[in-house]
Amino acid sequence: MEQNCYILGIESSCDDTAAAVINNGKILSNVVATQKIHEEYGGVVPELASRAHQKNIVPVVHQALRKANIDKKDLKAIAFTRGPGLMGALLVGTSFSKSLALGLGIPLIDVNHMQAHILAHFIEAEGQTAPEFPFLALTISGGHTQIVKVDGYFEMEVIGQTIDDAVGEAFDKSAKILGLPYPGGPLIDKYAKEGNPKAYPFTKPKVGPMDFSFSGLKTAVLYFVERETAKNPDFIAENRADICASLQYTIVDYLMDKLKNAVKLTGINTIAIGGGVSANSGIRAALHGAEKRYGWKTHIPNFEFCTDNAAMIAIVGALKYKEGVFAMNDVVASARMKF
Ligand code: KG4
Ligand code: ZN
Repeated sequence: MEQNCYILGIESSCDDTAAAVINNGKILSNVVATQKIHEEYGGVVPELASRAHQKNIVPVVHQALRKANIDKKDLKAIAFTRGPGLMGALLVGTSFSKSLALGLGIPLIDVNHMQAHILAHFIEAEGQTAPEFPFLALTISGGHTQIVKVDGYFEMEVIGQTIDDAVGEAFDKSAKILGLPYPGGPLIDKYAKEGNPKAYPFTKPKVGPMDFSFSGLKTAVLYFVERETAKNPDFIAENRADICASLQYTIVDYLMDKLKNAVKLTGINTIAIGGGVSANSGIRAALHGAEKRYGWKTHIPNFEFCTDNAAMIAIVGALKYKEGVFAMNDVVASARMKF
């Protein structure tokens, strides 16, 4: 590869406006503006997300270039999230990237957000090692829950996915029922540490061996809490840690069941996780346990590359640039983009 190959990555698929600069696999800057406005609504409001992206995108890109200590004229290409995601949000990043690439006379690279979560493992950074092909990727976040068989950088097949809510939604919606603010996943994780995971049994929904369903779990939590609160109005406050620990135990156990099925069915035992829920201490501990117990090789990216970020868009940009795979200038955002 050329000596210096600066590529700008731009991410705007949901509620994070992000920009990053990569140079030959190494991230020089990784800037994220997380939109706080949604907290008041207990979830992402698409129209507000688009407006916040419009407001944030120029300062975020400026900051990414400044932190990388380069000028926009040094850029070789611009990689942007084409989809999947919220249409209005994607449009902001797509139009911005197209205009900037056109203005600078450099190529444009379209990136699939889900592939980027997986390829984030190939960022060269302290604390993470790239998985060897083939591997299984479990992408778990507020928007996604998938098991993907990965045979090469761009040879990916979705072999399991949620039929309704994403796992992050199961965390966030249950947290809301427990009166916790959005996003409640990290708080459930925090309270779970002090609780008994076996205190309350929640049933694991039955679907295909590698698929997921989370909407029933949220309803089960709602009925359970309503029933107990009718008997004792302070039930949640008095038992928060046990409820959180039991819920987290059920979710992690369910994710691990599906991974075990995927390992059995594919014969692949290298596992790489990604997405915001990878921060969960329960899933991290379960994966470490599986290394010892089943001999799996597991990979968890650094936290800044797990949640929505532009470094993962930039690494895909770098990989595609190397192969000379560029987008046409009439490329459009795609809310339901597939691999
Ligand atoms: O990848 P991400 O930042 O955004 C997308 O949804 O794409 O993931 C955010 C999700 C939220 O649902 C949040 O509650 C969840 O990740 N999350 C966690 C933890 N940290 C973040 N869920 C459980 N335990 C955590 N420690
Ligand atoms: Zn994501």
